[in-house]
Amino acid sequence: MTDSDYKPGLEDVPAAKSAISFIDGKRAQLEYRGVPVEILARESCFEETAWLLLKGDLPTQKELADFDADLRERRGIHFRLKDLIKCLPSTGHPMEALQATTAALGMFHPHRQVTCATKNWDAACRILAGLPTVVAAFARTRRGEEPIDPRPDLDHAANFYYMLFGKEPSAATRKVLDACLILHAEHEMNASTFTARVTASTLASPYQTIAAAVGSLSGPLHGGANEEVLLMLEKIGAKENVQSWLDEKLANDPKFKVMGLGHRVYKVKDPRATVLQELAEHMFAESARPKNYEIALELERITAGIYGAKGVYPNVDFYSGVVYQSLGIPTDVFTPIFAIARVAGWLAHWLEQLNGNRIFRPAQIFVGKADAAYVPLDKRP
Ligand code: COA
Repeated sequence: MTDSDYKPGLEDVPAAKSAISFIDGKRAQLEYRGVPVEILARESCFEETAWLLLKGDLPTQKELADFDADLRERRGIHFRLKDLIKCLPSTGHPMEALQATTAALGMFHPHRQVTCATKNWDAACRILAGLPTVVAAFARTRRGEEPIDPRPDLDHAANFYYMLFGKEPSAATRKVLDACLILHAEHEMNASTFTARVTASTLASPYQTIAAAVGSLSGPLHGGANEEVLLMLEKIGAKENVQSWLDEKLANDPKFKVMGLGHRVYKVKDPRATVLQELAEHMFAESARPKNYEIALELERITAGIYGAKGVYPNVDFYSGVVYQSLGIPTDVFTPIFAIARVAGWLAHWLEQLNGNRIFRPAQIFVGKADAAYVPLDKRP
């Protein structure tokens, strides 16, 4: 192994063969099992998209009805898990709470035999259905409010909104939230999916596999960017400040990274950012655009002139926060929403990894010392 074999960040190194999603980063193309994501965001619902990702084909009416019923049945969580959520520090980040409670969910539903297809499917349904419940429960208990039990008469997106706010969403809000879940559901070999596959390859339980992926998603270079974008827009404060804010940042650090821009694979605007922007346009009449949306538009316009030549354009996180904020969702719950969507993709990769599994064990290029002497502690300077 030589230095020339090493690809920092494993750029362009294939880590798996996968049939789940396809990206053409130059053509702004993203497909789930061959279906363009824009069509799914417009025509499908999260439940159907999750089935497509997990099973490989669109469901029949009966398959979808049965799957939907399976999910609704598994939304509730054990009262001891609710107690555990209540005991978590209210100042902790909701992604930390989600990682802890995803692992804890597995303690209530032990699943060590990942060779059983029936049990695997049951666990996949339980995780898909249970994550929104634990996210909503922590979002409430940290404010001193009681968690709200799921409603089996509501669909996945509407039930999540209901558990968060205690009221049903309007039809328009439900559609926006559902479309956001679809847009975030899968994105081939990103850091959290790779984490899930590495963990799955050890034959760890699906709960631990998904908990590992949640941890990976939380970082600001990955899913955590949606929260960072909103904080950045708040700091900029007004559309008129964008140029001076950016000038100052670049004067301090010519390599300054604007949150919500850039992507390892897309060298044009991320197609999901385009759909999210359309959703935003649809939600806000031009006269009543929120300030943060106006700032984001101006930031996109100015940065295109600076970074466009490098292929750095808005990614999925650039507009999602503005959309979530307009739905009344707290800023630090943006990334957990990303997680309750992406779990569909993670689970699809978990099942795919198990099929013909080989444990991940890459190589390294050793750059440390050799034959170093062990000097006893009392003889060291
Ligand atoms: N703002 C400004 N410049 C950026 C940038 C950003 N957000 N993202 C990348 N660039 C520039 C880099 O400075 C680098 O320029 P150089 O070639 O002159 O050195 C070039 O584009 C390549 O960037 P690099 O960091 O090597 O890309 P990567 O593939 O390793 O990283 C991301 C991809 C997503 C981590 C990176 O674009 C980033 O940090 N973006 C901000 C965080 C974010 O929005 N994450 C969510 C991703 S969905």
